[in-house]
Amino acid sequence: MSLLILGIESSCDETGVALVRAGDGGGVPTLLAHALHSQIDMHQAYGGVVPELASRDHIRRVLPLTEAVLKDAGQPLSAVDVVAYTRGPGLAGALLVGAGVACALGAALDKPVLGVHHLEGHLLSPFLSSDPPQFPFVALLVSGGHTQLMRVDGVGRYAILGETIDDAAGEAFDKSAKLMGLGYPGGPALSRLAQQGDPRAFKLPRPLLHSGNLDFSFAGLKTAVLTQAKKLGDDLQARKADLAASTEAAIVEVLVKKTLAALQHTGMRRVVVAGGVGANRLLRAQLDAACAQRGVRVHYPELHLCTDNGAMIAMAAAMRLQAGQQQANRNYAFDVKPRWPLDAIAA
Ligand code: KG4
Ligand code: ZN
Repeated sequence: MSLLILGIESSCDETGVALVRAGDGGGVPTLLAHALHSQIDMHQAYGGVVPELASRDHIRRVLPLTEAVLKDAGQPLSAVDVVAYTRGPGLAGALLVGAGVACALGAALDKPVLGVHHLEGHLLSPFLSSDPPQFPFVALLVSGGHTQLMRVDGVGRYAILGETIDDAAGEAFDKSAKLMGLGYPGGPALSRLAQQGDPRAFKLPRPLLHSGNLDFSFAGLKTAVLTQAKKLGDDLQARKADLAASTEAAIVEVLVKKTLAALQHTGMRRVVVAGGVGANRLLRAQLDAACAQRGVRVHYPELHLCTDNGAMIAMAAAMRLQAGQQQANRNYAFDVKPRWPLDAIAA
Protein backbone atom coordinates (compact mmCIF):
# COMPACT_ATOMS: atom_id res chain seq x y z
CA MET A 1 0.00 0.00 0.00
CA SER A 2 1.36 3.43 -0.81
CA LEU A 3 0.83 6.64 1.14
CA LEU A 4 0.06 10.07 -0.26
CA ILE A 5 1.66 12.71 1.94
CA LEU A 6 0.78 16.38 1.74
CA GLY A 7 3.59 18.61 3.09
CA ILE A 8 3.17 22.22 4.22
CA GLU A 9 6.13 24.54 4.90
CA SER A 10 5.57 27.96 6.48
CA SER A 11 8.49 28.51 8.87
CA CYS A 12 9.77 31.78 7.45
CA ASP A 13 9.13 33.75 4.26
CA GLU A 14 8.15 31.01 1.83
CA THR A 15 4.86 29.15 1.70
CA GLY A 16 5.49 25.73 0.20
CA VAL A 17 3.10 22.85 -0.42
CA ALA A 18 3.86 19.48 -1.99
CA LEU A 19 2.49 16.01 -2.53
CA VAL A 20 4.80 12.99 -2.20
CA ARG A 21 4.05 9.30 -2.67
CA ALA A 22 5.77 6.86 -0.34
CA GLY A 23 5.65 3.18 -1.28
CA ASP A 24 6.04 0.45 1.29
CA GLY A 25 8.84 -1.19 -0.69
CA GLY A 26 11.23 1.15 1.12
CA GLY A 27 12.38 2.89 -2.07
CA VAL A 28 12.93 6.64 -2.30
CA PRO A 29 9.53 8.41 -2.15
CA THR A 30 8.51 10.32 -5.27
CA LEU A 31 7.50 13.93 -5.61
CA LEU A 32 4.19 14.22 -7.47
CA ALA A 33 3.75 18.01 -7.42
CA HIS A 34 4.84 21.06 -5.50
CA ALA A 35 4.11 24.78 -5.40
CA LEU A 36 5.80 27.70 -3.73
CA HIS A 37 5.12 31.32 -2.99
CA SER A 38 8.09 33.45 -1.95
CA GLN A 39 7.40 36.57 0.14
CA ILE A 40 10.74 38.12 -0.71
CA ASP A 41 9.21 41.00 -2.71
CA MET A 42 6.92 41.85 0.21
CA HIS A 43 9.70 41.97 2.82
CA GLN A 44 12.25 43.65 0.55
CA ALA A 45 11.07 47.14 1.45
CA TYR A 46 11.87 46.46 5.14
CA GLY A 47 15.33 44.95 4.55
CA GLY A 48 14.36 41.70 6.26
CA VAL A 49 11.47 39.44 7.21
CA VAL A 50 8.62 41.15 9.13
CA PRO A 51 7.15 38.24 11.14
CA GLU A 52 3.56 39.52 11.33
CA LEU A 53 3.43 40.19 7.58
CA ALA A 54 4.89 36.73 6.97
CA SER A 55 2.14 35.02 9.03
CA ARG A 56 -0.62 36.94 7.29
CA ASP A 57 0.73 36.11 3.87
CA HIS A 58 1.01 32.39 4.71
CA ILE A 59 -2.70 32.50 5.60
CA ARG A 60 -3.50 33.97 2.19
CA ARG A 61 -1.37 31.52 0.21
CA VAL A 62 -1.55 28.13 1.83
CA LEU A 63 -4.96 26.90 0.62
CA PRO A 64 -4.67 28.16 -2.99
CA LEU A 65 -1.24 26.51 -3.16
CA THR A 66 -2.70 23.27 -1.77
CA GLU A 67 -5.45 23.34 -4.41
CA ALA A 68 -2.88 23.96 -7.15
CA VAL A 69 -0.71 21.04 -5.99
CA LEU A 70 -3.63 18.61 -5.84
CA LYS A 71 -4.81 19.71 -9.28
CA ASP A 72 -1.32 19.35 -10.69
CA ALA A 73 -1.00 15.85 -9.27
CA GLY A 74 -4.53 14.94 -10.43
CA GLN A 75 -5.53 13.91 -6.90
CA PRO A 76 -8.60 14.86 -4.84
CA LEU A 77 -8.03 16.16 -1.28
CA SER A 78 -9.70 12.99 0.02
CA ALA A 79 -6.84 10.90 -1.43
CA VAL A 80 -4.34 12.46 1.00
CA ASP A 81 -3.32 9.88 3.64
CA VAL A 82 -1.12 12.03 5.91
CA VAL A 83 -0.81 15.79 6.34
CA ALA A 84 2.73 16.84 7.27
CA TYR A 85 3.78 20.32 8.35
CA THR A 86 6.86 22.16 9.59
CA ARG A 87 6.69 22.15 13.39
CA GLY A 88 9.89 24.16 13.87
CA PRO A 89 12.32 25.80 14.09
CA GLY A 90 11.21 29.12 12.64
CA LEU A 91 9.00 32.14 13.28
CA ALA A 92 6.31 31.20 15.82
CA GLY A 93 3.41 32.95 14.06
CA ALA A 94 4.41 31.66 10.64
CA LEU A 95 4.77 28.09 11.95
CA LEU A 96 1.34 28.33 13.59
CA VAL A 97 -0.30 28.97 10.22
CA GLY A 98 1.07 25.80 8.62
CA ALA A 99 0.47 23.72 11.75
CA GLY A 100 -3.08 25.09 12.15
CA VAL A 101 -4.03 24.47 8.53
CA ALA A 102 -2.45 21.00 8.49
CA CYS A 103 -4.22 19.93 11.68
CA ALA A 104 -7.54 21.40 10.52
CA LEU A 105 -7.23 19.51 7.22
CA GLY A 106 -6.30 16.34 9.09
CA ALA A 107 -9.29 16.68 11.43
CA ALA A 108 -11.71 17.46 8.59
CA LEU A 109 -10.48 14.49 6.52
CA ASP A 110 -10.04 12.21 9.54
CA LYS A 111 -6.45 11.64 8.46
CA PRO A 112 -3.33 11.62 10.68
CA VAL A 113 -0.88 14.52 10.85
CA LEU A 114 2.87 14.69 11.36
CA GLY A 115 5.03 17.62 12.52
CA VAL A 116 8.40 17.77 10.76
CA HIS A 117 11.71 19.39 11.73
CA HIS A 118 12.56 22.05 9.13
CA LEU A 119 16.28 21.22 9.14
CA GLU A 120 15.57 17.53 8.68
CA GLY A 121 13.64 18.62 5.59
CA HIS A 122 16.73 20.44 4.26
CA LEU A 123 18.95 17.52 5.22
CA LEU A 124 16.84 14.97 3.33
CA SER A 125 16.07 17.25 0.35
CA PRO A 126 18.89 15.72 -1.80
CA PHE A 127 16.79 12.52 -1.82
CA LEU A 128 14.46 14.41 -4.16
CA SER A 129 17.22 14.72 -6.76
CA SER A 130 17.87 12.36 -9.66
CA ASP A 131 21.05 11.23 -7.90
CA PRO A 132 19.94 10.52 -4.32
CA PRO A 133 22.64 9.81 -1.70
CA GLN A 134 23.00 6.68 0.41
CA PHE A 135 23.53 6.62 4.17
CA PRO A 136 25.85 7.25 5.94
CA PHE A 137 27.15 10.71 5.03
CA VAL A 138 28.50 13.96 6.37
CA ALA A 139 26.00 16.79 5.94
CA LEU A 140 26.85 20.45 5.60
CA LEU A 141 23.68 22.32 6.48
CA VAL A 142 24.00 25.95 5.45
CA SER A 143 20.86 28.06 5.62
CA GLY A 144 19.91 31.58 6.58
CA GLY A 145 19.60 30.62 10.24
CA HIS A 146 21.85 27.57 10.67
CA THR A 147 25.34 26.35 9.86
CA GLN A 148 26.08 22.82 11.00
CA LEU A 149 28.20 19.85 10.10
CA MET A 150 26.48 16.60 10.89
CA ARG A 151 27.11 12.92 10.85
CA VAL A 152 24.03 11.24 9.35
CA ASP A 153 23.79 7.46 9.76
CA GLY A 154 20.17 7.10 8.68
CA VAL A 155 16.77 8.76 8.93
CA GLY A 156 16.57 10.32 12.39
CA ARG A 157 20.16 9.34 13.23
CA TYR A 158 21.90 12.69 13.40
CA ALA A 159 24.93 13.76 15.43
CA ILE A 160 26.15 17.35 15.31
CA LEU A 161 29.91 17.49 14.64
CA GLY A 162 30.20 21.27 14.68
CA GLU A 163 28.12 24.40 14.30
CA THR A 164 28.31 28.15 14.23
CA ILE A 165 28.91 29.88 17.52
CA ASP A 166 27.37 33.13 16.23
CA ASP A 167 26.07 34.04 12.74
CA ALA A 168 25.06 31.46 10.15
CA ALA A 169 26.76 31.34 6.73
CA GLY A 170 23.60 32.65 5.07
CA GLU A 171 23.50 35.48 7.60
CA ALA A 172 27.11 36.35 6.74
CA PHE A 173 26.12 36.56 3.08
CA ASP A 174 22.96 38.54 3.87
CA LYS A 175 24.52 41.00 6.33
CA SER A 176 27.55 41.67 4.09
CA ALA A 177 25.23 42.15 1.12
CA LYS A 178 23.03 44.53 3.10
CA LEU A 179 25.91 46.81 3.98
CA MET A 180 26.93 46.83 0.32
CA GLY A 181 23.38 47.95 -0.52
CA LEU A 182 22.47 44.71 -2.32
CA GLY A 183 18.99 44.26 -0.81
CA TYR A 184 17.45 41.29 0.99
CA PRO A 185 18.18 38.40 1.07
CA GLY A 186 21.52 39.40 -0.33
CA GLY A 187 23.22 35.99 -0.71
CA PRO A 188 22.28 35.40 -4.35
CA ALA A 189 22.90 39.08 -5.30
CA LEU A 190 26.31 39.13 -3.60
CA SER A 191 27.24 35.91 -5.35
CA ARG A 192 26.19 37.30 -8.75
CA LEU A 193 28.20 40.49 -8.23
CA ALA A 194 31.20 38.47 -7.02
CA GLN A 195 31.52 36.90 -10.45
CA GLN A 196 32.83 40.23 -11.77
CA GLY A 197 35.25 40.80 -8.88
CA ASP A 198 38.67 39.67 -7.72
CA PRO A 199 38.45 37.30 -4.72
CA ARG A 200 42.01 38.25 -3.69
CA ALA A 201 41.38 42.01 -3.74
CA PHE A 202 40.79 42.30 0.03
CA LYS A 203 42.29 40.26 2.82
CA LEU A 204 39.38 39.15 4.97
CA PRO A 205 39.54 36.83 8.00
CA ARG A 206 38.74 33.10 7.80
CA PRO A 207 37.32 32.72 11.33
CA LEU A 208 38.09 29.49 13.22
CA LEU A 209 39.75 28.00 10.13
CA HIS A 210 42.53 26.53 12.23
CA SER A 211 40.56 26.09 15.45
CA GLY A 212 41.09 22.34 15.42
CA ASN A 213 37.38 21.69 15.83
CA LEU A 214 34.42 21.74 13.43
CA ASP A 215 32.74 24.90 14.72
CA PHE A 216 32.19 28.05 12.67
CA SER A 217 32.06 31.76 13.45
CA PHE A 218 31.01 34.40 10.93
CA ALA A 219 30.28 37.48 13.05
CA GLY A 220 33.88 38.75 12.85
CA LEU A 221 33.90 38.41 9.07
CA LYS A 222 30.85 40.64 8.79
CA THR A 223 32.58 43.25 10.97
CA ALA A 224 35.70 43.04 8.78
CA VAL A 225 33.57 43.61 5.66
CA LEU A 226 31.96 46.62 7.35
CA THR A 227 35.38 48.04 8.29
CA GLN A 228 36.62 47.53 4.73
CA ALA A 229 33.50 49.18 3.27
CA LYS A 230 33.96 52.20 5.55
CA LYS A 231 37.62 52.46 4.61
CA LEU A 232 36.70 52.49 0.94
CA GLY A 233 34.23 55.35 1.46
CA ASP A 234 33.40 56.86 -1.93
CA ASP A 235 35.38 54.14 -3.69
CA LEU A 236 33.01 51.43 -2.41
CA GLN A 237 30.80 51.69 -5.46
CA ALA A 238 33.70 51.08 -7.84
CA ARG A 239 35.19 48.26 -5.72
CA LYS A 240 31.94 46.57 -4.69
CA ALA A 241 32.42 43.54 -6.96
CA ASP A 242 35.92 43.00 -5.51
CA LEU A 243 34.60 43.23 -1.96
CA ALA A 244 31.73 40.85 -2.79
CA ALA A 245 34.17 38.36 -4.36
CA SER A 246 36.53 38.57 -1.37
CA THR A 247 33.64 38.05 1.07
CA GLU A 248 32.30 35.08 -0.83
CA ALA A 249 35.78 33.54 -1.07
CA ALA A 250 36.27 33.85 2.71
CA ILE A 251 32.92 32.23 3.57
CA VAL A 252 33.33 29.45 1.00
CA GLU A 253 36.91 28.64 2.02
CA VAL A 254 35.85 28.12 5.63
CA LEU A 255 32.85 25.97 4.64
CA VAL A 256 34.93 23.78 2.29
CA LYS A 257 37.90 23.29 4.64
CA LYS A 258 35.70 22.44 7.62
CA THR A 259 33.71 19.98 5.52
CA LEU A 260 36.95 18.28 4.46
CA ALA A 261 38.01 18.15 8.11
CA ALA A 262 34.66 16.54 9.01
CA LEU A 263 35.20 13.91 6.32
CA GLN A 264 38.63 13.16 7.68
CA HIS A 265 37.34 13.05 11.25
CA THR A 266 34.54 10.59 10.44
CA GLY A 267 36.33 8.64 7.71
CA MET A 268 33.26 9.04 5.51
CA ARG A 269 33.35 9.20 1.70
CA ARG A 270 30.07 11.02 1.04
CA VAL A 271 28.85 14.59 1.62
CA VAL A 272 25.40 16.10 1.36
CA VAL A 273 25.07 19.87 1.15
CA ALA A 274 21.69 21.35 2.05
CA GLY A 275 20.07 24.70 2.82
CA GLY A 276 19.89 27.95 0.88
CA VAL A 277 23.65 28.60 0.75
CA GLY A 278 23.96 25.20 -0.96
CA ALA A 279 22.81 27.05 -4.10
CA ASN A 280 26.05 29.05 -4.09
CA ARG A 281 28.03 28.38 -7.27
CA LEU A 282 31.49 28.95 -5.81
CA LEU A 283 30.76 26.62 -2.88
CA ARG A 284 29.61 23.92 -5.29
CA ALA A 285 32.61 24.36 -7.58
CA GLN A 286 35.21 24.34 -4.78
CA LEU A 287 33.64 21.48 -2.87
CA ASP A 288 33.26 19.41 -6.05
CA ALA A 289 36.92 19.99 -6.95
CA ALA A 290 38.23 19.20 -3.45
CA CYS A 291 36.07 16.08 -3.11
CA ALA A 292 36.89 14.80 -6.62
CA GLN A 293 40.58 14.88 -5.66
CA ARG A 294 39.81 12.75 -2.60
CA GLY A 295 37.39 10.32 -4.22
CA VAL A 296 34.49 11.67 -2.15
CA ARG A 297 30.94 11.86 -3.60
CA VAL A 298 29.02 15.15 -3.13
CA HIS A 299 25.23 15.38 -3.33
CA TYR A 300 23.13 18.53 -3.54
CA PRO A 301 19.42 19.15 -3.64
CA GLU A 302 18.22 20.37 -7.01
CA LEU A 303 18.87 24.11 -7.23
CA HIS A 304 15.22 25.12 -6.86
CA LEU A 305 14.89 22.92 -3.76
CA CYS A 306 17.90 24.41 -1.90
CA THR A 307 15.86 27.16 -0.30
CA ASP A 308 12.69 26.54 1.73
CA ASN A 309 9.97 24.48 0.05
CA GLY A 310 7.12 22.08 0.80
CA ALA A 311 8.67 19.15 -1.08
CA MET A 312 11.40 18.68 1.52
CA ILE A 313 8.81 18.61 4.32
CA ALA A 314 6.63 16.01 2.58
CA MET A 315 9.80 14.05 1.77
CA ALA A 316 11.12 14.11 5.35
CA ALA A 317 7.69 12.97 6.61
CA ALA A 318 7.62 10.15 4.03
CA MET A 319 11.11 8.98 4.96
CA ARG A 320 10.39 9.10 8.70
CA LEU A 321 7.21 7.07 8.23
CA GLN A 322 8.95 4.55 5.97
CA ALA A 323 11.84 4.18 8.41
CA GLY A 324 9.38 3.63 11.27
CA GLN A 325 10.92 6.62 13.05
CA GLN A 326 7.58 8.20 13.76
CA GLN A 327 3.86 7.53 13.53
CA ALA A 328 1.47 10.07 12.09
CA ASN A 329 -1.24 10.73 14.70
CA ARG A 330 -4.76 12.04 15.14
CA ASN A 331 -3.79 14.44 17.89
CA TYR A 332 -4.91 17.68 16.27
CA ALA A 333 -4.01 19.82 19.31
CA PHE A 334 -0.81 21.08 17.69
CA ASP A 335 2.07 23.03 19.09
CA VAL A 336 5.06 24.53 17.31
CA LYS A 337 8.73 24.71 18.27
CA PRO A 338 10.32 28.01 17.18
CA ARG A 339 13.62 26.82 18.74
CA TRP A 340 14.35 23.16 18.22
CA PRO A 341 17.84 21.65 17.89
CA LEU A 342 18.04 18.94 15.23
CA ASP A 343 19.78 16.42 17.45
CA ALA A 344 16.79 16.60 19.80
CA ILE A 345 14.84 14.45 17.32
CA ALA A 346 17.63 11.93 16.81
CA ALA A 347 16.77 8.31 17.45
O1 KG4 B 1 17.47 27.50 3.65
P1 KG4 B 1 16.97 28.87 3.44
O2 KG4 B 1 15.98 29.12 2.34
O3 KG4 B 1 16.30 29.46 4.71
C1 KG4 B 1 16.52 29.12 6.01
O4 KG4 B 1 16.03 28.03 6.42
O5 KG4 B 1 17.22 29.92 6.65
O6 KG4 B 1 18.28 29.76 3.21
C2 KG4 B 1 18.23 31.11 2.91
C3 KG4 B 1 19.64 31.64 2.88
C4 KG4 B 1 19.71 33.16 2.80
O7 KG4 B 1 20.63 33.59 3.76
C5 KG4 B 1 20.21 33.40 1.39
O8 KG4 B 1 20.94 34.60 1.24
C6 KG4 B 1 21.08 32.22 1.16
O9 KG4 B 1 20.35 31.14 1.74
N1 KG4 B 1 21.34 31.95 -0.26
C7 KG4 B 1 22.55 32.09 -0.85
C8 KG4 B 1 22.37 31.77 -2.23
N2 KG4 B 1 21.06 31.45 -2.42
C9 KG4 B 1 20.45 31.56 -1.21
N3 KG4 B 1 23.74 32.44 -0.34
C10 KG4 B 1 24.79 32.49 -1.18
N4 KG4 B 1 24.71 32.22 -2.50
C11 KG4 B 1 23.54 31.86 -3.07
N5 KG4 B 1 23.47 31.58 -4.37
ZN1 ZN C 1 15.28 26.65 5.56
